[in-house]
Amino acid sequence: MFHPLRVARIERTVGPGGAGDTVALTLAVPPELRPVFRFLPGQHLTIRHITPDGTELRRNYSLCNPAPPPGSAEPGPAELTIGIRRIAEGGFSSYAVTRLTEGDTLEVMPPAGRFTLVPRPGRFAAVTGGSGITPVLSMAASLLAAEPTARFTLLRSDRTAASAMFLTETADLKDRYPGRFQLISALTREDRQAGLAGGRLDAGRLAGLLPRLLPVGEVTGWYLCGPLGLISAARQALAKLDVPGERVHAELFHAEDAPLPPAAPVPGRELARDAEVSATLDGRSGSFPVRDGETLLDAVLRGRPDAPYACKGGVCGTCRARLLSGEVHMDRNYALEPAELDAGYVLACQSHPLTAEVRLDFDA
Ligand code: FES
Repeated sequence: MFHPLRVARIERTVGPGGAGDTVALTLAVPPELRPVFRFLPGQHLTIRHITPDGTELRRNYSLCNPAPPPGSAEPGPAELTIGIRRIAEGGFSSYAVTRLTEGDTLEVMPPAGRFTLVPRPGRFAAVTGGSGITPVLSMAASLLAAEPTARFTLLRSDRTAASAMFLTETADLKDRYPGRFQLISALTREDRQAGLAGGRLDAGRLAGLLPRLLPVGEVTGWYLCGPLGLISAARQALAKLDVPGERVHAELFHAEDAPLPPAAPVPGRELARDAEVSATLDGRSGSFPVRDGETLLDAVLRGRPDAPYACKGGVCGTCRARLLSGEVHMDRNYALEPAELDAGYVLACQSHPLTAEVRLDFDA
């Protein structure tokens, strides 16, 4: 369900072209909605925006301010901050960067997402690319404030120093927690005076670099966030360094309109024709016919416009549902971890029926 939240502050930053192409947007949460907007470090907000021609856009943005500590008596956050980089003309990001003003209202869904770090003792590390810094900034700030013995290493990669988001905020963490927060910056499109030499962080480079930065085997949680190339490279490097897969968590940042690899074909199976999907959502169930070629999400949306989704690209995980019976084929999956797949979860926006009847539970 979407709630109207007022834009309390907009901080514009200077981008590579000299004009502001990113903003830090702070939304005010009225007292009655604070419990609804409690969040875990790493979670995101979904914003709904209607363009002048009536098209509905939904975009996810990670929260980057610290989360209230676990068990805190606070009813919930009074403010929420997200970082937005302008990606394409005509999309929500260009509207937010160029036209949105303080006092405007946005329609916002409560925080969601399972790419989270609940503060606890231990050593944690993150590899981020570009705007992938946003959820990790919240994770590091929340962890270091809540757990006096926890340590966090951040390897952030940006194209150029001028394009890097939240540079001041990450530098502040280094000043505030000098013994517990380690910051390494890499620039892929320019050389710098200090830090790593320029160039892409590929799997070979990361596998050589990480053991020189920290005791890899002692890290209990790895958090990878950014574009597909960086996430794949970091996964390969960590596998090479014998890091168990269950310690590695990833969130792909899919820039608006950026192409994803093509969907994989169905391996030796025919999609079911004249299929029907039964779906449970907010405790109510219904059945919906699935038209040839459409996804289960689109079939459900015709009867239940409140079905959850944001990217429709297999990236954000908002449309996650549990498959209770039947079989489906997913075009692509960049959101669900292996344990979730084993537990029977699917992405409704990527699922097509392989059997005539399919049952989904969005509440599970
Ligand atoms: S709506 Fe984003 S993964 Fe399905």
